[in-house]
Amino acid sequence: MTPNLTLAPDTLSTAHPSKDTLSVSSRDVGATAAAEILQVKNLSKIFGPKPERAVEMMRQGIGRNEIFEVTGNMVAVDDVSLSVRAGEIFVVMGLSGSGKSTLVRLLNRLIEPTSGSVILDGRDIAPMSTVELREVRRKKMAMVFQSFALLPNRTVLDNIAYGLEVSGQKKAQRYDTARAALQRVGLGSYEKLLPSELSGGMQQRVGLARALAVNPAVLLMDEAFSALDPLIRFEMQNELLRLQKEEQRTIVFISHDIEEAIKIGGRIGIMKDGRLIQVGTPAELIQTPADEYVRDFFRNVDVSRFLKASSLMQKPSKGVISCDTGTSASRYLTEMIDASVDCAYVCDEDGRFVGCVTLERLHKAGDRSVRDALHPDLHAVQTEADLHELASVALNREYDVPVVDGDGKFAGVVSCRTILKQVLERRAA
Ligand SMILES: Nc1ncnc2c1ncn2[C@@H]1O[C@H](COP(=O)(O)OP(=O)(O)O)[C@@H](O)[C@H]1O
Ligand SMILES: [Mg+2]
Repeated sequence: MTPNLTLAPDTLSTAHPSKDTLSVSSRDVGATAAAEILQVKNLSKIFGPKPERAVEMMRQGIGRNEIFEVTGNMVAVDDVSLSVRAGEIFVVMGLSGSGKSTLVRLLNRLIEPTSGSVILDGRDIAPMSTVELREVRRKKMAMVFQSFALLPNRTVLDNIAYGLEVSGQKKAQRYDTARAALQRVGLGSYEKLLPSELSGGMQQRVGLARALAVNPAVLLMDEAFSALDPLIRFEMQNELLRLQKEEQRTIVFISHDIEEAIKIGGRIGIMKDGRLIQVGTPAELIQTPADEYVRDFFRNVDVSRFLKASSLMQKPSKGVISCDTGTSASRYLTEMIDASVDCAYVCDEDGRFVGCVTLERLHKAGDRSVRDALHPDLHAVQTEADLHELASVALNREYDVPVVDGDGKFAGVVSCRTILKQVLERRAA
């Protein structure tokens, strides 16, 4: 009989499961191959008198500061390519002046690009006429501004209905839509007030409602919450997440605040000096930052909750027993000794994790079944378990921590060493 101690790859679920994470929350949409609704290819924007000279210097790899000194041209966005997937919140994050606002305005051609292209829903927006573009801005890419940008002499309801009016909706219909949008952001009873009669947070809710009313293919939000007081800002972030849970919209969200970015972003694109340095989920950016600039953003942020068992686990090369748990325990004793493992992970014939066995317990069980030898305390954690949970589990055991997916299938192990290393690294950061 062939020993079953070596891991059969098909008993493992994937290290980045997509099936179970998809249903968890919108954050995980990034893990699936959702349709790309917006594609940006080699997009650049140079402000100033003679962009040709600046383009030439860019090609030579000269930095934006030197280009500015020599030519007076500012390279605001520098060869950015990215795709936004349907239903995700894509956060563009970077320090002030890194080109975020320019980038988001290039997406709907509020700013004309120097080069590169933007494809929305399969259509290049570059050749579009002014009329077509206006349609795109009104219906496909509504924008929420930091400054709210409400019409001061119109009521809250009229502010929302206005956008629908210019896009040609009939009166009764646009007021219905506007009211529904106001309800959605919790301002149902404020429709008759003027913007000036509302607090900043409420005005931004109106701004959000106005954009939602259009039901755009992509919602653009440029530092939409940055001008708000911290508490209100926190509320608005939650509000956005709540709305996103109700109905998954595609959102490009600009922020200079890493806490905000990791809270709401499924994926984050980090910009520096006009360039897109790195795109990834919060966990990916935290674990493998492209450079010091990216790493620096995460200093002083408690990132433990983003470090999940799914990204820390490894597939053990040995020490996995796939068997009928009724089999005699002693059968696996020599196999474990030969493989020099003192703890093995037992899976049933369907790949489901049933427990751990140690040499000692197998020995004691003798001719009884593997099931009788299972260790009573060595439980598995879910792929979604974060570093906090892993550390508290590891604290009480000397063996690596098994991980199971949503179906209870054995997914891998996180070594105590990895957990300790991560905890120490977080402290050092
Ligand atoms: N209309 C403009 N003319 C000239 N330079 C501009 C213009 N708009 C932005 N810039 C410059 O481009 C760079 C990027 O600006 P911006 O996109 O507003 O950055 P962010 O939104 O990340 O703060 C900055 O150096 C800014 O001064
Ligand atoms: Mg800006």
